[in-house]
Amino acid sequence: MKNIAVFASGNGSNLQAIIDVIKRGKLKVNLALVISDNKDAFALVRAQKAGVKSIFINPKNFVSKEEFEKEIIKYLKQEKIDLIVLAGFMRILSKHFVRLYKNKILNIHPALLPSFKGSYGIKDAFNYGVKITGVTVHFVDSKMDHGPIVLQEAVKINKTDTLKSLEEKIHEIEHKIYPKAIKLFSLGKIRLKARRTVIF
Ligand code: GRF
Repeated sequence: MKNIAVFASGNGSNLQAIIDVIKRGKLKVNLALVISDNKDAFALVRAQKAGVKSIFINPKNFVSKEEFEKEIIKYLKQEKIDLIVLAGFMRILSKHFVRLYKNKILNIHPALLPSFKGSYGIKDAFNYGVKITGVTVHFVDSKMDHGPIVLQEAVKINKTDTLKSLEEKIHEIEHKIYPKAIKLFSLGKIRLKARRTVIF
């Protein structure tokens, strides 16, 4: 079974969705570790409740990003992590880190990449006035919200939608497709052809 680590800085609703699918027996991976850079992240509480090992690593205790990541890597090696799942992790990983775990880091973005990159994907799409937005799960490379796309699902923005209702729709899709992408990875069903993925 693949060992996975989830990195989260905030609420952790995606982490919860992953925990729930594992508990239901629909995703056969070992969620070995949750790492947060924020001691108040609700994601840490969710991990504790589920009996998953969780660690807060304070970036302020390290002189550089490199040293901070060295500490993270120490834990990843200890747990023999095969896949890192970024779920609202509000930090850009260094080129070195991304190279070390090349094609072994997934991220979820609340818009249809390459549109609306950055921290406000839902709001930016809503304010732009697009009629269709969505969710993207992708591998992480050294550029933000850029790596090979694994799964995408579209969400329609109707005239009655508010930012809040759109957020709800987006999160609902996230909670469905993130566990699905992790499953595909764990079963070795994702092949890469340059930056295109092929799902078997
Ligand atoms: C999600 O909307 C995800 O797409 C983005 O950050 C948010 C994290 O939410 N990368 P949560 O902490 O999983 O609830």
